Amino acid sequence: MKEHALTLGEELRRQGVSRRSFLKYCSVVAASMAIPATMVPAMAASLAQARRQSVIWMSYQECTACIESLTRAFAPTVENLIFNFISLDFQHALQAAAGDQAVEALHKAMEENWGKYLVLVDGSIPLKDDGIYSTSHGQTHLESLREVAEGAAAIVSIGTCAAYGGVGAARPNPTGAVGVDEIITDKPILNVPGCPPIPEVMTGVLTSFLAFGELPAVDALKRPSAFFSDTIHDRCYRRPFYDQGKFAKTFDDEGARKGWCLYELGCKGPITHNACATMKFNQGVSWPIQSGHGCLGCSEPNFWDKDSFYKPLSAGQWGSAEGIAVAAAAGVALGAASAVMSRKNQDKISGGK
Ligand code: SF4
Ligand code: SF4
Ligand code: F3S
Repeated sequence: MKEHALTLGEELRRQGVSRRSFLKYCSVVAASMAIPATMVPAMAASLAQARRQSVIWMSYQECTACIESLTRAFAPTVENLIFNFISLDFQHALQAAAGDQAVEALHKAMEENWGKYLVLVDGSIPLKDDGIYSTSHGQTHLESLREVAEGAAAIVSIGTCAAYGGVGAARPNPTGAVGVDEIITDKPILNVPGCPPIPEVMTGVLTSFLAFGELPAVDALKRPSAFFSDTIHDRCYRRPFYDQGKFAKTFDDEGARKGWCLYELGCKGPITHNACATMKFNQGVSWPIQSGHGCLGCSEPNFWDKDSFYKPLSAGQWGSAEGIAVAAAAGVALGAASAVMSRKNQDKISGGK
């Protein structure tokens, strides 16, 4: 691994991040990941000692919005500084090198960090006809993924395409696209689905990996449980209108103007697991439902094919009628962790302040 002279703690100090801000960030991440508050000092100490982590980011059948979402730089937040602290040894859309030089950089990074590097993947991988539909530097992406996965410590699939095939796998799935875990079965894999995913979930996962040297706990779909255990509907601010039976019937009627529930306009929030309702996008500015559109279910497998985006949830495609009813009725009070994350987004924790 490329040795970096500074630890993360030293680097953050150099950037002017106060210890108070750093501890606040650690508390927020710990709360969002259900790590007990008593462990925050140990987590902060471990994180401060972390060295630059080699990260190799492979992009396959994708649209670049995952990269766009995750690399958007705003205020110099602690999480941005952590994201900048990793050693991004290969990322073909962002790196200066191209062609043979880029491939050499990739192989060099793999060799120097064999067994220790983290692989991030965005985009699906075509399997049909030996994967010839998607290639780069003379390799199919199927070959590329197998090669790079071999020396990886762990793999994070970023976005619904890498996690479950996403839009590439939508019917009739002409390239036989699949997600990473249908190909790689002998490495720890974590999925951060979403189309695109929430950047702060990704930095939470990276922070956890830097602090503890392993991926956080996942659910049955390999999503970090801390961020994906609740449905959108559980945390939606329009939920009181749902409970009162107040539904917008069109996107421009009086109900829509008053912010009523979008269930009858096709919102898939009751069966979609994601953290959008509390973490939002663009550092807490907004999210689809706040912008007036129902949730499409973009973090769930096969959401493109399940039903019309504009038809109310129906049994069959999205599960049993009973399941949908249970999901819709299962709203819970805002938990401490999500409240903290929500406040964090509004506060925009800035380094050194
Ligand atoms: Fe694009 Fe969505 Fe696929 Fe990401 S998950 S590459 S945003 S289509
Ligand atoms: Fe919010 Fe959609 Fe649930 Fe209505 S159905 S409360 S808009 S998540
Ligand atoms: Fe996707 Fe629904 Fe969030 S469409 S971005 S999971 S609100």
